[in-house]
Amino acid sequence: MMLPVIDERPDLFDVAETWSLDELREHQLHRLRWSLAHAYEHVPHYRNAFDAKGFHPQDLTSLADLRHAPFTAKADLRANYPFGMFAVPREQVSRVHASSGTTGRPTVVGYTAEDLRTWARLMARSIRAAGGRPGDVVHVAYGYGLFTGGLGAHYGAEALGCTVVPISGGMTERQVQLIGDFAPRVIMVTPSYFLSVLDEMERAGVDPAASSLQVGIFGAEPWTDAMRREIEERAGMHAVDIYGLSEVMGPGVAQECVQTKDGLHIWEDHFYPEIVDPLTDEPVPDGEMGELVFTSLSKQAMPVVRYRTRDLTRLLPGTARPGMRRMQKVTGRTDDMMIVRGVNVFPTQVEEVVLATSGLTPYFQCVLTRPDRLDELTVLVEAADGVGTDQRAALARHVGQQIKDRIGVTAAVEVVEPGGVERSIGKARRIVDRRPH
Ligand code: DLL
Repeated sequence: MMLPVIDERPDLFDVAETWSLDELREHQLHRLRWSLAHAYEHVPHYRNAFDAKGFHPQDLTSLADLRHAPFTAKADLRANYPFGMFAVPREQVSRVHASSGTTGRPTVVGYTAEDLRTWARLMARSIRAAGGRPGDVVHVAYGYGLFTGGLGAHYGAEALGCTVVPISGGMTERQVQLIGDFAPRVIMVTPSYFLSVLDEMERAGVDPAASSLQVGIFGAEPWTDAMRREIEERAGMHAVDIYGLSEVMGPGVAQECVQTKDGLHIWEDHFYPEIVDPLTDEPVPDGEMGELVFTSLSKQAMPVVRYRTRDLTRLLPGTARPGMRRMQKVTGRTDDMMIVRGVNVFPTQVEEVVLATSGLTPYFQCVLTRPDRLDELTVLVEAADGVGTDQRAALARHVGQQIKDRIGVTAAVEVVEPGGVERSIGKARRIVDRRPH
């Protein structure tokens, strides 16, 4: 499949995208000192956390000193619900977003008007790195509302000078109709929901590869290179990864460049990354896997200090933007790690097996049960159209064997009829936990 050619446009870069490493580090140290002091002076939680560690923001003389600062976790945001983590008076907060979370109180985040401008600029930078250009029609199918995906993408695309179609998630037939009528060049959506959009195109007799779409900016959930190939081949468009989280800003913390597709450049002029060993909490050197931790460098309303993302990745040197480090595609969250008979398994590993098997659709779910004190994993996956019952049984055996060989765990596999696995219009639910609590 020939993918559209997209010229790099260095003339459109933000100045920070051209900084040398020395320039970036100097800027980061300066901003880090400001950010830690801002958090310490205006947020009682941070003052207490720094004092408890016997470390004062003024003690920071190098970026390496950051390791002495306290971590921040989702629980700290919950404990200070709703506005206790704000570092400016509530009247100066222009907008809030919140994530529902699976249990208890939502986590609330806030932005000043200046924070919103920064976010829009960084999202514009991200869309540009993904191959979007001023003048494009951009179809935004991330959810609008308290979730940061829709509005984050929206204002970024506007700031880049695009024509935005704010359709949000859902009403899949309508999505397909408007893609046909408005001819977007760029779509921004979760990869799992985009699969439903592709199915609907095919159902409606539209060849996705013949559509106007050239670039898909996919994120908000883990997805694999196998999924990238699947989408690029089916739709004849570039599939690039966008990463972010509400607590740190929203989408646009890191972005994969369409030229290289080799992991996501972290916009380090605004977010300082570390990787820590999740067991010892100690920072590990670049190149080593661990939990991603961010400290904000410019946020006014809600600075975050060493925020534990629970996302697992590693830091790599910059390529398309030599000054900014990359993060490898996120393989999973510590929360999504299933431990089956002592073996660690992530849904992305199952995704790779499913996508490597013909006769299956890319829809799957991992169901965890505990029938007899030990955890068991059942993988539900959908047969493609026209696959008969006998073939399904053979496919189930094959997938079970592949999971055993490639991941090292025993899983029961059920190949169900087309449409038999739950669809989502946002983030897919990959793990269904039926274990007694
Ligand atoms: O999902 C922000 C976002 C919206 C990012 C649209 C990209 C596109 P939250 O709802 O707070 O924010 O969820 C953040 O989602 O910690 C990761 O676990 C996961 N995540 C986000 N992007 C990716 C990605 C948004 N590209 C959480 N790959 C994060 C893997 C991702 N996981």
